[in-house]
Amino acid sequence: MKVLVAGGTGFIGTTLCAELDDRGHDVTALSRNPEGSGLPTGVDVAMGDVSAFDSIVDTVAGSDAVVNLVSLSPLYKPKGGANHDRVHLGGTENLVRAAEEHDVDRFLQMSALGADPDGATDYIRAKGRAETLVRESSLDWTIFRPSVVFGEGGEFVPFAKKLTTPYVTGLPGGGETRFQPIWVEDLAPMLAEALEDDDHVGETYEIAGPQIVTLADVTELAYEADGKPVTILPIPMALTRLGLTAADPLPFIPFGPDQARSLEMDNTVVDNDVTAFGVSTDELTTLREHLDIEPRSVRTQRQST
Ligand SMILES: NC(=O)c1ccc[n+]([C@@H]2O[C@H](COP(=O)([O-])OP(=O)(O)OC[C@H]3O[C@@H](n4cnc5c(N)ncnc54)[C@H](OP(=O)(O)O)[C@@H]3O)[C@@H](O)[C@H]2O)c1
Repeated sequence: MKVLVAGGTGFIGTTLCAELDDRGHDVTALSRNPEGSGLPTGVDVAMGDVSAFDSIVDTVAGSDAVVNLVSLSPLYKPKGGANHDRVHLGGTENLVRAAEEHDVDRFLQMSALGADPDGATDYIRAKGRAETLVRESSLDWTIFRPSVVFGEGGEFVPFAKKLTTPYVTGLPGGGETRFQPIWVEDLAPMLAEALEDDDHVGETYEIAGPQIVTLADVTELAYEADGKPVTILPIPMALTRLGLTAADPLPFIPFGPDQARSLEMDNTVVDNDVTAFGVSTDELTTLREHLDIEPRSVRTQRQST
């Protein structure tokens, strides 16, 4: 299959392009600056900006499938005039239009848990509206809504460290926001299978990892991997929201009111749709395993012998 992966040079994109290449597909990764992205030699690259239709339409021609992995991170305030509507909504609109014009059969849209046209943050609203566009298109679509994704090159664990300091640190709401992180290497084969098997057409999948962890847990794991302890002190959510709203005009503060709002929403699934890919949750890699930290039970056992 000839697959165009928009955002194929990013964190999830490089893993997916390698997975598709391994499976024998003819893969092209599209982004604004695709050179030097460390993709396997079998993967072609193309330059284009999804917010400018004319820059992508010719690249879409001849594809059997388009995957939309373009991203503007919700973890930080957008910089340099970028905004979620232009990237996530406008970008999806242009990719869908180009795919329809060139009779591309399959379209895989990467959305996010909680995507909602009336949601609380710019990111969540743009993702929700982009989903509506995809569902209303004439394409054979599949939508993925993952919780946070971790792995080599991912920004979730570094984000927890950017928010905090080792030893003693404050976290909004004591870091009680819940996540269900999934390893990028567990996710990529599901994305590939969704493209290959027509049973996944017209489906929206909520995908998450094997364990629910809080932001405080992630912070502790991140510092534990560095051999450093951390004690977390709660900062009231209302104070966080007020502070980040007041500081919003300051360009050097990387977080704004949307980041505060997103910490008020859990990022977990009710039913984990990994089962749609014949995967059971206990086969999935935990964040602790990925960071190569011994489970506490093993360590306690060793200390007591
Ligand atoms: N990572 C997570 O935890 C997570 C969780 C849930 C959902 N998602 C979704 O998964 C998808 C992939 O996320 P990711 O973490 O892999 O993102 P990422 O590492 O930031 O990669 C983003 C990719 O998009 C490209 N890009 C950005 N703006 C573009 C534009 N205007 N035109 C063309 N390409 C553009 C980037 O390359 P250039 O900068 O060179 O253009 C890069 O290849 C996104 O839809 C994201 O919302 C991610």
